Amino acid sequence: MDYFITGGAGFIGSHLTEYLLNKGNRVTVLDNFVSGDPRNITRIGEKGAKIIKGSVLDKDLVYSLAAKCDKIVHLAAVVGVRLAMARGVETMRVSCLGTERVLEAAVAYNKEVFIASSSAIYGKIRTVPVKEEDDILLGDTKKESWLYSVGKLAEEHLALSYYREQGARVKVGRFFNVIGPYQVGTYGMVVPTFIKKALTGNPLPVYGDGSQTRTFAYIKDALRGVEIIMKRGRTGEVYNIGSTGEITILDLAKKVIVMTGSSSKISIIPFQEAFGEEFEETNRRVPDISRLRDLGYSPRYCLNEALKEIIDFHRFG
Ligand SMILES: NC(=O)c1ccc[n+]([C@@H]2O[C@H](COP(=O)([O-])OP(=O)(O)OC[C@H]3O[C@@H](n4cnc5c(N)ncnc54)[C@H](O)[C@@H]3O)[C@@H](O)[C@H]2O)c1
Repeated sequence: MDYFITGGAGFIGSHLTEYLLNKGNRVTVLDNFVSGDPRNITRIGEKGAKIIKGSVLDKDLVYSLAAKCDKIVHLAAVVGVRLAMARGVETMRVSCLGTERVLEAAVAYNKEVFIASSSAIYGKIRTVPVKEEDDILLGDTKKESWLYSVGKLAEEHLALSYYREQGARVKVGRFFNVIGPYQVGTYGMVVPTFIKKALTGNPLPVYGDGSQTRTFAYIKDALRGVEIIMKRGRTGEVYNIGSTGEITILDLAKKVIVMTGSSSKISIIPFQEAFGEEFEETNRRVPDISRLRDLGYSPRYCLNEALKEIIDFHRFG
């Protein structure tokens, strides 16, 4: 099978590329390398991926790559709270225009397409776990912290509209905090940030009071989720992809310190100091994954196992 993966040089994309190549598929990656670990490019290149440097905003390029593949996985996006807040125009353009390019091309050549969405679209979650059909509550448009959420929400609406109106063979996966080797902490990802700080004896920055909770899905589980959705998911359907073990960010920091055997301290930093006056945070984010479970999925890695693998990766390379 020939896969065309946008954003394939990023964290999830590079792992998915490797995973698909290992199963005997061919993969073409389109990425402009704005984020993601630079080592990914060599890593997937050596495994046999064809890597094209370019943007999903480039219509001709997207069309020509879509024409040649069997399936499309659309992961390209401006990812990370800090990056999205700093590059609002680009974030919205890549989400809206870039996703539309991909969907148009998928319809033009009748190719199945997986669209990567995010738990961020739920916004200020009131009750957990959240189901796919639950209401969404986003903050004021003047607050840049919602930009990424709105971009991903626009991607979903575009995808589902292309499905309803133009017959796009589309499936949407909403990732809830995926973690693993080669994820970078540069733009606000908490796990690589904590691990790097702990391994170098620096304070672990906990924003707010640390009582906000998240769940963390190990990359290998997330990849199986994508594979199951692509194989068995319903066209025009949305699936949460994540794990269900909820932990506060403060407890996560403590866990990382213990697991790394570090002498690092925890530094409590107010959100406003870290991200500006307008910043708003989601208190709890836990997915209901019954819809994905109904397709035969269940997470195999608990947080401790995932953290152990990631710590080893950062420690030994
Ligand atoms: N990692 C997570 O926990 C998580 C959670 C929710 C959603 N997601 C979604 O999953 C996808 C992959 O995220 P990731 O964690 O691998 O992030 P990432 O930043 O590592 O990967 C995104 C990739 O897209 C590329 N890119 C950005 N703009 C582009 C453009 N205009 N043209 C081509 N390539 C472009 C980047 O260079 C990068 O390689 C994204 O759509 C993201 O919104 C990820």
